[in-house]
Amino acid sequence: MTDEFTIEVAGLTVPALGFGTWQLNGEVAEARVADALEIGVRHIDTAQLYANEDAVGRGIAASGVDRDEVFLTTKVARNNAAPADVHRSTEESLRALDVDHVDLLLIHWPAEEIAPTEATLEALTEVRDRGLTRAIGVSNYPSALLRRAFEVAPIVTDQVEHHPYLAVDAIREVLDEHGGFLTAYSPIAKGRIAGDPVLTEIASDHGVTAAQVTLRWLLQRGASAIPRTSSPERVRENADVAGFTLSDDELARIDGLNRGERLVDPGHGVAWDTA
Ligand SMILES: NC(=O)c1ccc[n+]([C@@H]2O[C@H](COP(=O)([O-])OP(=O)(O)OC[C@H]3O[C@@H](n4cnc5c(N)ncnc54)[C@H](OP(=O)(O)O)[C@@H]3O)[C@@H](O)[C@H]2O)c1
Repeated sequence: MTDEFTIEVAGLTVPALGFGTWQLNGEVAEARVADALEIGVRHIDTAQLYANEDAVGRGIAASGVDRDEVFLTTKVARNNAAPADVHRSTEESLRALDVDHVDLLLIHWPAEEIAPTEATLEALTEVRDRGLTRAIGVSNYPSALLRRAFEVAPIVTDQVEHHPYLAVDAIREVLDEHGGFLTAYSPIAKGRIAGDPVLTEIASDHGVTAAQVTLRWLLQRGASAIPRTSSPERVRENADVAGFTLSDDELARIDGLNRGERLVDPGHGVAWDTA
């Protein structure tokens, strides 16, 4: 269903369409992760901060899908950005997830007042060299910091907020320059895309939904997308984006919806790009 879009980077094959788990907890997190895997999604996104790594791990086990077939991402919380804490907290994440490694480990937010970015990234590289993750990356890094990160560590992605209402061109440029890929979080703008007139019109032309058009746009533009839902029906809807193709004109119309609207900003003092 979703095999059509994969991203090849640094020897990894990343299934571009994933499933996000922020604010899903306990039985709901476990059940929706299992649902997503059972219908063919092969990329799951969690984080230490979501306090659901144990439930996500149970969902993976309950799905019956081989661990090797699942691309699993977790994140080191920013208050664990000091090198010794990066190692310790990664070990804790693996124990909670009940796996011996993840596929991608990210630093969740820039944390310069806790540790220099270079030190955090060197620790992530060491954790990778210990075999605790297959790859490393960053999250919520604006373009200038991302450029610095590429100078010191073999990162493969920047996971940032990106949807039709928030373009991230400056970050994309740095990723393209260095062969990294973009992971779009809040990819359906937390559900706000549902009533959008342009997306709804394009969706009705293809007999799909605004969420499906949005996810398809992200995939055709080369990004990975990790939508989240607590609903079994929407797990299916959000994964079902392979049966239609957006034209260049439709892609451009969706690009044109950008209005610089940021929905996630917990106030960690990030100097966001203006484009
Ligand atoms: N790195 C970071 O700092 C960071 C920050 C934010 C998010 N993330 C990751 O990105 C994932 C996704 O982002 P997100 O959770 O912020 O937002 P999102 O995926 O853009 O939107 C989720 C919201 O949209 C609704 N929804 C889901 N499918 C829908 C559909 N087909 N039509 C209409 N509404 C729909 C959901 O409600 P229902 O549950 O009722 O379906 C939920 O309220 C997170 O779960 C997390 O894994 C990372």
